[in-house]
Amino acid sequence: MKTSALSGFHDLRPEKRLEIVKKFAGLTQKEALTLRNLGLGMKLADMMIENVIGTTQLPMGIATNFLVNGRDYLIPMALEEPSVVAAASNAAKLARPEGGFTTLSDPPVMIGQIQIVRLPNAKKAKKLVLRHKEKIMKIANAQDSMLVRLGGGAKDVEARIIRTPRGRMLIIHLIVDVRDAMGANAVNTMTEAVSSYIEKLTGGEARLRIISNLSVHRIAWAKAVWSRNLLGEDVIEGVLDAYAFAAADRFRCATHNKGIMNGIDAVAIATGNDFRSLEAAAHCYAAMKSYKPLTHYEKDAEGNLVGTIEIPITVGLVGGATKTHPVARTAVKILGIKTAQELAEVMACVGLANNFAALRAMVREGIQSGHMKLHAKNIAVMAGAKGTLIEKIARRIVREKKINVSSAKELLDSLHAKKKRFKERLKKRR
Ligand code: MEV
Repeated sequence: MKTSALSGFHDLRPEKRLEIVKKFAGLTQKEALTLRNLGLGMKLADMMIENVIGTTQLPMGIATNFLVNGRDYLIPMALEEPSVVAAASNAAKLARPEGGFTTLSDPPVMIGQIQIVRLPNAKKAKKLVLRHKEKIMKIANAQDSMLVRLGGGAKDVEARIIRTPRGRMLIIHLIVDVRDAMGANAVNTMTEAVSSYIEKLTGGEARLRIISNLSVHRIAWAKAVWSRNLLGEDVIEGVLDAYAFAAADRFRCATHNKGIMNGIDAVAIATGNDFRSLEAAAHCYAAMKSYKPLTHYEKDAEGNLVGTIEIPITVGLVGGATKTHPVARTAVKILGIKTAQELAEVMACVGLANNFAALRAMVREGIQSGHMKLHAKNIAVMAGAKGTLIEKIARRIVREKKINVSSAKELLDSLHAKKKRFKERLKKRR
């Protein structure tokens, strides 16, 4: 039976961890090598964007312990920030005794917007568009017969009039099921294709024809229960206080939601998905009424902590970097994900896990101690430490609460001096 509860995983060397993940996900030797050192490569990079001069790299870590709808997942996360992978793993571990995460999601439906300006009669134009929605959808669907064959394509047309300082405009929404794509290409092609027909129909002029990143029809939900016995009363009360703070104060709420996106973006980057669209959607969705947390916490009848998340997640498995980037393809294989909807649900769980972990850490020891352990290693390297001295210095500066480069340098100098004195004494004795 495959399990993501890999105890001691974080104590292993990266190569050993990769071996375990390789076995878990059935990776080929080439895929394992891709993660280790082949990466993207200049040739592929040059096909992805313009004016390529190289590639950049981020560490990819694996969040363990995720049990989602009864299935074990290992979660690849790519980001520069320490503690996020450990926090997600830890939150998922604490949720396991209560069954892990359960999820739901909408079908992958996106909105394409067509802006019509200079209308002779906006109300009449709106009626005409709605009366001819079948024809508009037919033109849209003729652009992507493959998507239609897979059960996707344009499903509806909506229209509303907006008042702007530049006059009334008719805003048409083309509602498109994009199946396993993120959807921008399919939707943008469709909106461009239907615009001249709409111009003829309305007598107006089409301006923007573009996807909306506020993907309100593509929401993912996740829920987890953290038991009272495991967390303790105090921590639960603390998390509820922290949640109430975010719900009542937008300065706190922005950071609360940022912690959610730490996890979600990291999976998006690992799988080659567009994290900017996720950010745009998440924060705009959070601000639909007034700016609110994307998660919710309450106690159940037994006093356990119940956390939920509701968030738009627009990710794809076909097209874009997810298919072309070898590391992203391998990350998808590690996840063992079969549909974009499944990926969205797992990402919602990661967002909830990271949010819970951050709140829990802040109401207990604070966020810095976890952060600082890894950060201390970076500081030691910056101070010039090499080999085993990195760990030694990192541990000392954490213990002495002096996590800065000058303290690390001082320590390094004194260790070097000690070593020198020792060698000299040894020489004299000989
Ligand atoms: C840091 O990247 C994220 C946190 O600030 C999130 C939060 O405050 O909830 C720790």
